[in-house]
Amino acid sequence: MSSSPYHPHTVAPRVTRISHVVENLPPSGIRAFFDLVMSMDDVISLGVGEPDFVTPWRIREASIFAIEKGYTSYTSNRGMPELLREISSWLARSYDLHYNPSQHIIITVGVSEALDLAMRAIINPGDEVIVPEPAYVSYAPTVALAGGIPVSLPTWHVPGFKITPDALDQRISSRTRAVVINYPANPTGTSYSRAELEALAAVIRKHDLLLLSDEVYDQLSYDAPHIPIATLPGMYDRTLYFNGFSKAYAMTGYRLGFACGPEPIISAMIKIHQYTMLCAPIISQMAAIEALRNATPDVREMVAEYNRRRRFIVHALNLAGLPCHLPEGAFYAFPSIAPTGMDGVTFATRLLQEERVAVVPGTAFGPGGSSFIRIAYAASFDNLREAARRITRFVARHAPHAVSPSTALAS
Ligand SMILES: Cc1ncc(COP(=O)(O)O)c(C=O)c1O
Repeated sequence: MSSSPYHPHTVAPRVTRISHVVENLPPSGIRAFFDLVMSMDDVISLGVGEPDFVTPWRIREASIFAIEKGYTSYTSNRGMPELLREISSWLARSYDLHYNPSQHIIITVGVSEALDLAMRAIINPGDEVIVPEPAYVSYAPTVALAGGIPVSLPTWHVPGFKITPDALDQRISSRTRAVVINYPANPTGTSYSRAELEALAAVIRKHDLLLLSDEVYDQLSYDAPHIPIATLPGMYDRTLYFNGFSKAYAMTGYRLGFACGPEPIISAMIKIHQYTMLCAPIISQMAAIEALRNATPDVREMVAEYNRRRRFIVHALNLAGLPCHLPEGAFYAFPSIAPTGMDGVTFATRLLQEERVAVVPGTAFGPGGSSFIRIAYAASFDNLREAARRITRFVARHAPHAVSPSTALAS
């Protein structure tokens, strides 16, 4: 007899039947790969998209004080009025973007929840939502879970993986309900100039569409100031703006984000939120107030360090023979591995097994990604340097013709 205290489930299949939509969802490509990583020792992980920094002390201290002072209750569904006001004034002073705290903003459990609420609030069965690819992994599944149809807009072969106005125009149909945009982007780091955003905005306006703009990496912009698309003429009324605390403030575990936009959509999102999450955690909301008020110097320091790493890793990848554009933001590099002749899954699996470096195969971000990998450079400079050495050695071993002659001479 087994000594396990757990009984096997022997119920009939109709009892454990799963919804068709959920059954048909592919599992996240990132998680599957990282189960393998977790089973190995001594791996340098450039895989998971989260800051390697711990949350700045002043923010952690604010959460400790919140507990000490007894802030342990629910908050209003929309979020704490102090934080709503703080978000409103931060957007106004950072971008001259104005939202009324009691009408146009909802505080959520990460941008993840905000995206899910938005999809559920706006989609009727069969509505299409355009998702540019490569894309952050949750856009298409949240569209599908809400009963919509994600329509891929591939940008794999466009320089810098940018959405072009013509390509966007061609994907729009009579069933298109909304378009998703994310910049600086996960997984490519791509961002957009004002002129590029204006050209995309013109297409959105021409077809009278709603835009879902995920700008969670806005403060991680290195070369030019970030421009929220909602600030462009004619876009404020048709943009749902998403942002959060996970990336810039290194607060992934606090699970806090927000969405801003037209009052009817935000109200609909609050309706779903009040029946599901009820509210975002009060301790995280107290910490976020401190982040917005006082943590700009901490953000600046982290951004300067990411920028140093960005320049190093992109240069190293190009020298190693893996062509990589210089990403404008976020903390990802997205090189092509085509010169090695391997696909992304083979490359990532062998690199892990042979050199103990974890990267994410490009197909995690869309089916067209087989000749790319994502490298998250939210890792210490020493680890990045060592990873670059190992990647160079790996490419030289498997595709000696790909490595730049200057690298070959140096090694
Ligand atoms: C583009 C993008 N949007 C949203 C999220 C989710 O962020 P949050 O931690 O706020 O749920 C991520 C996390 O990786 C992301 O990369």
